[in-house]
Amino acid sequence: MNAYDIIKKKRDGGELSKEEIEFLVKGIANGNVPDYQIAAWAMAVYFQGMNERETTDLTLAMAHSGDTVDLSKVQGIPVDKHSTGGVGDKTTLVAVPLTAAAGVPVPKMSGRGLGHTGGTIDKLESIPGFKVEIDVAEFVQQVNRVKAAVISQSGNLVPADKKLYAIRDVTATVDSIPLIASSVMSKKLAAGARGIVLDVKVGKGAFMKDLDQAFQLAQLMVDIGFKAGREVVAVLSDMDQPLGCAVGNALEIEEVVKTLKGEGAPDLTELSVTLASYMLLVGGRVGDFASARELVQKNLTSGAGFEKFREMVIAQGGDARCLDRPQDYFRASLQVSVPSPSDGYVTDIDAEQVGLATMRLGAGRERAGERIDHSVGVVLRRKKGDSVRSGQALAVIHANDPYRLETARAMLAQAYRLDQQPPPKRPLILGVVT
Ligand code: URA
Repeated sequence: MNAYDIIKKKRDGGELSKEEIEFLVKGIANGNVPDYQIAAWAMAVYFQGMNERETTDLTLAMAHSGDTVDLSKVQGIPVDKHSTGGVGDKTTLVAVPLTAAAGVPVPKMSGRGLGHTGGTIDKLESIPGFKVEIDVAEFVQQVNRVKAAVISQSGNLVPADKKLYAIRDVTATVDSIPLIASSVMSKKLAAGARGIVLDVKVGKGAFMKDLDQAFQLAQLMVDIGFKAGREVVAVLSDMDQPLGCAVGNALEIEEVVKTLKGEGAPDLTELSVTLASYMLLVGGRVGDFASARELVQKNLTSGAGFEKFREMVIAQGGDARCLDRPQDYFRASLQVSVPSPSDGYVTDIDAEQVGLATMRLGAGRERAGERIDHSVGVVLRRKKGDSVRSGQALAVIHANDPYRLETARAMLAQAYRLDQQPPPKRPLILGVVT
């Protein structure tokens, strides 16, 4: 068996056997298959696709390409969540404490941002002292004590995905249903949780632009999880405009705090409550969605979710004082408005453009491993459907560099579309697959 024949078979529309897939994944993980052959194979899959059996075999081979996390010592049913990547998506940091406050253990491994989408670990690192690298024994202990821990994915978890994802990112092969499904589910299976809630983003700021394709992706991931003995729910949510108002690491932490205090943007609050409710369901805490939602809502209103977030921050060495006085910790030196050019309604905010503008400010990486500036970003003052008068702020930019600020200002002005009529309403939750 060799990589050339496997690439050729897929290029010509053939079905790869389990052995061929395992051979390739092993070669990707141990370096025996060079980057150019990995890239060629990814492009062949992009055009020819893979059936459900091939995708399941790819997922399982990738999940076992490195370490797996043993959560058998976690008390209760451990649950996990994953988003396929969005702009301003800080739902993990709202949903995890809301779930943990209801007694369901959440051992969560998260990633850093790349491209126009942000990463939970970068957001958490804007809290002074917060430790994201914790060994598995300590991670499990914290989950048993606090019910929640969010750490960065350990070095040798799913090495085949790390390699393949980095190559897909630069060869225009990210937005392939079997490649996304196997990438997401291999990480979730290796991370060990028994209940998994997926947030599949759909729209201009997401990898899946089309609702039918997003449903296919969601169904495939739920089926793969089922075959691997996990309970999986996928929520499809709108990513045509950024979620909530803040985009940028520390600014998003500030918005998480506001949301957990019950003062969050309606879209962010609604999606976080929905995801946490499904996390209670797959964690076996309640038997139906209505009871789950009631419990989550109660933990939001009472402040129990916020207290759980504070407890988690302290447990991971973070300075929790910044949660009470974010303005003293998190401010960039320059804050400048993007004024509306006319009266009207906001009909569109291009999420990808907002993500890219934030990246140019220094909040995200153009290449893996780059340093980022946690304090910079954008706060949207107007969202889709809002009315605005000429000269009023559409958004406020937080920057530390006047040149980058000007670039971001031009990009944001382009990201907004205004009209005399309000746009038709699009629901936030576009579907659920169980
Ligand atoms: N998120 C992932 O983890 N993998 C993908 O391929 C796309 C989004």
